[in-house]
Amino acid sequence: MRGKFIVFEGIDGSGKTTQLKLLGVKLKERGLPVLHTREPGGTRVGETIREILLNPEYSELVPRAEAFLYAAARAQHVAQVIMPSLASGTVVLCDRFVDSSLAYQGFGRGIDIGLLEKINEPATYGLVPDLTIILDFCAEDGMDRISSSGRSIDRIEREARDFHAKVAAGYLALAGRDPARYRVVDANRPAGQVHLDVMKAAEVVLNEIAARNSRA
Ligand code: TYD
Repeated sequence: MRGKFIVFEGIDGSGKTTQLKLLGVKLKERGLPVLHTREPGGTRVGETIREILLNPEYSELVPRAEAFLYAAARAQHVAQVIMPSLASGTVVLCDRFVDSSLAYQGFGRGIDIGLLEKINEPATYGLVPDLTIILDFCAEDGMDRISSSGRSIDRIEREARDFHAKVAAGYLALAGRDPARYRVVDANRPAGQVHLDVMKAAEVVLNEIAARNSRA
């Protein structure tokens, strides 16, 4: 019995991690096995690649090398964690996946989307999320949230506001290209309200799980 693969996407500061955790709590309350994971990361190798990607000291990293490093971390994550978890029936909640590469390296850095899709096809072993929730959030507010958070600002967060605005617009363009694959949620509201919409967005997938469990 295959689990479900739900991905959260959005710009830095959009509240993805909070929303992922809130959904995770609801799923656990329903007795479902849930795994929280993230990209880049989720594995020992991936977390090490993450350190390179987010370290502001590597300012010389060229966009293609950046894209390959995200894809390398992804290949490890999919093979080591995501596919085995899905195979054991777990609901995998993932903070970012391929669409982050399309939005950041594609719309943000200007790498051709087709090229990124080519790189990511082998990196994902063809795995496509059952649901991708995009938290649509104002880029200016996202950057304000990050700068007032008090923690150190990583290499990607240091990019100009204009870069983050392109990423935010990129997510909407991706959703517009293929509305069946994405649910866009307005994240410019209090977390509780956003959560209600996340639950609505997840309804189809949750109903599928409930139907399957009632047959079991
Ligand atoms: P994230 O874990 O959301 O950062 P934080 O823990 O600081 O909230 O993501 C790390 C950064 O990597 C984020 O700025 C988005 C970027 N990113 C890409 O540019 N491409 C990718 O494919 C992925 C997965 C992330």
